[in-house]
Amino acid sequence: MRPTPPPRTYRVKSFGCQMNVYDGERMAELLGEQGITPAPEGEEADLVVLNTCHIREKAAEKVYSDIGRLRREDGTSPLIAVAGCVAQAEGEEIMKRAPAVSMVVGPQAYHRLPAMIAEAVEGRRAVDTDMPAETKFDALPARRKVGPSAFLTVQEGCDKFCTYCVVPYTRGAEVSRPFTDLVEEAKKLVEAGARELTLLGQNVNAWRDADGRGLEKLIEVLAVIPGLARIRYTTSHPNDMTDGLIAAHRDVPQLMPFLHLPVQAGNDRVLKAMNRSHTTESYLRVLDQVRAARPDIALSGDFIVGFPGETDAEFEDTLRLVEQVGYAQCFSFKYSARPGTPAATMDGQVPAAVMDERLQRLQAAVNASQLAFNQASLGKRCTVLVERQGRHAGQWLGKSPWLQSVHFTGDAAIGDLVEVELTEAGPNSLSARLLEPATV
Ligand code: SAH
Ligand code: SF4
Ligand code: F3S
Repeated sequence: MRPTPPPRTYRVKSFGCQMNVYDGERMAELLGEQGITPAPEGEEADLVVLNTCHIREKAAEKVYSDIGRLRREDGTSPLIAVAGCVAQAEGEEIMKRAPAVSMVVGPQAYHRLPAMIAEAVEGRRAVDTDMPAETKFDALPARRKVGPSAFLTVQEGCDKFCTYCVVPYTRGAEVSRPFTDLVEEAKKLVEAGARELTLLGQNVNAWRDADGRGLEKLIEVLAVIPGLARIRYTTSHPNDMTDGLIAAHRDVPQLMPFLHLPVQAGNDRVLKAMNRSHTTESYLRVLDQVRAARPDIALSGDFIVGFPGETDAEFEDTLRLVEQVGYAQCFSFKYSARPGTPAATMDGQVPAAVMDERLQRLQAAVNASQLAFNQASLGKRCTVLVERQGRHAGQWLGKSPWLQSVHFTGDAAIGDLVEVELTEAGPNSLSARLLEPATV
């Protein structure tokens, strides 16, 4: 690589889960602290950070087409850093496959990005996929400006080793951030404009502090931060839904009535082969307990169709589960074999055409469930946190307590909590009538 002038502008592109979005924001803040500014819309940036996702093959391959697209007509490229889970999983491989890349930085090492940029400017390529003992969080600048709904990563990594999943390899073992650091960062986020915090973790409900306090204790303390109106958390594992956390859904009004609790499949043989360590029955029992604590809770899930060996009859158990639960939202995916995971070499890999057909059937069931949930909300009065302007004049978009997208017209501003009545429902959003601008 040839030496280049130090970058003056940057663009961070994040793919994958919300934790990557959070990491992307923090990398942007870090670059800002170095005096590098966001590239204006439509202009090429001097430095591009591709913050990648490795969860499915399509997501992982995307990075290479993105790198290709950054090539200029004269064959040169801006400075490119590949960050995130593909960086962690493929490391040096990326350098070999993509000569235009000058930095590869794993999710636990991105606080070292400024040092790597200094190397790259000198013409040296650098790979850092360490999972260092010192935490990146301590080395990052304070939060300054965020939207009304902000993310806060409280826990990283996963010890569950579901047989299809790369996360335990790309993000490492479960680590919880300390209580006081999180309360500090939450306060900073509220000062910077957040009215809602979503606590993030690959296994967020496994969060524990050194004294053994669980996520519900953190939620209780965050709930009384002045100016913070709403708290959410994602993603949870069914086995880590403790009685304390379930009770928080009854006792903490700031904790929104929404729970994303992936189940992946509705058949116990498949769940066992996935190493999910829960059954459909134990999953449904948890949902019953949560509903007893908070009867209006909106439920959400993730599903994989076509796990190796899944038969038609086993897949149909998943359809039945979707009908039984009455989800408000769901994400469904075709199984994607990931290198190095146990499921990738299991017998009975399901043909693509069968997966396509199953996914279509599942998505039809999920759409019906979402529509039914939204229709059941019609006539309800609730608050909406206004997140952005709509396409039409005077139109606003925000979220209901049940995480539904709601649009309405009237006098409001981004960051307001307004009182509305829900008047029309589709599978993915609702319309509402503004009752009064009720900034809490
Ligand atoms: N920690 C969370 C989220 C993990 S990734 C959890 O345990 O639920 C988000 C979703 O991607 C998973 O819930 C799963 O549905 C899906 N997923 C993970 N690995 C996959 C694979 N190899 N193929 C298809 N979908 C996958
Ligand atoms: Fe992946 Fe399973 Fe861990 Fe979720 S619980 S991140 S699906 S290994
Ligand atoms: Fe993707 Fe890594 Fe998140 S693989 S889903 S970006 S933890």
